[in-house]
Amino acid sequence: MVVLSGAGISAESGLGTFRDKGGLWDEYDINEVATPEAWQKNQELVLNFYNERLRNCLEAKPNEAHLALAHLEKHFDVQIITQNIDDLHERAGSKNILHLHGEILKAQCSVNENEVQLINKSLKIGDLSSTGHQLRPHVVWFGEAVPMMHEAEEIVAAADIFVVIGTSLNVYPAANLLFACGKACKKYIVDINEMSNVKFKNLIQFKGKATVCVPDLISQLIQDSKS
Ligand code: APR
Repeated sequence: MVVLSGAGISAESGLGTFRDKGGLWDEYDINEVATPEAWQKNQELVLNFYNERLRNCLEAKPNEAHLALAHLEKHFDVQIITQNIDDLHERAGSKNILHLHGEILKAQCSVNENEVQLINKSLKIGDLSSTGHQLRPHVVWFGEAVPMMHEAEEIVAAADIFVVIGTSLNVYPAANLLFACGKACKKYIVDINEMSNVKFKNLIQFKGKATVCVPDLISQLIQDSKS
């Protein structure tokens, strides 16, 4: 079973989504805080944006949706692919997690992207990598490649059940994962809004909050697996 999660699964943990009304991209200009050009132009502004994301993440707790997915591992082989940079799936107890867009609790060398280290406090100008270069958030910015995309496609292609939770499916290539699953794969989508842009055969939509719909869906899947 493969899960693709987005900001909507962490909304009820108090972490902002991006494209809902009043979301992060209403508050900030993507081009000022989430692109390589923004980093070239004003590293401090970019660091301030992600340091706020880090503080919010450290204050947040996993919610019933994250916990239900962790519980599911008692019954299914579960692989989570998340677009989120928070660690709420990890803290809920899920084991197999692939972060498509990076992780806020890690930093990388701004010259050598393969040099990555754990962080638990704000990054500032002057925090340097082992090669003496400024550290930057370990996050995939707009315009950058998504290194784990091929691995994610392979995981989805092998899924028997594919569950999409709390993502507007507005960002590519992540949104293409919906097309990566096999014909026989059962698809479910959980979103507080009707996902009218998603037209798929054998796709079942659960319209509602993730903390209500994900536990409901999980108990239904566990029930079905016993019948
Ligand atoms: N329960 C369920 N769904 C919710 C809830 C909730 N409580 N709150 C919001 N949603 C849904 C919204 O209806 C929307 O479809 O979650 C989705 C959030 O969409 P976005 O804000 O676009 O977030 P996401 O899809 O994760 O964005 C993808 O864009 O900016 C980049 O890198 C960033 O990973 C992010 C990517």
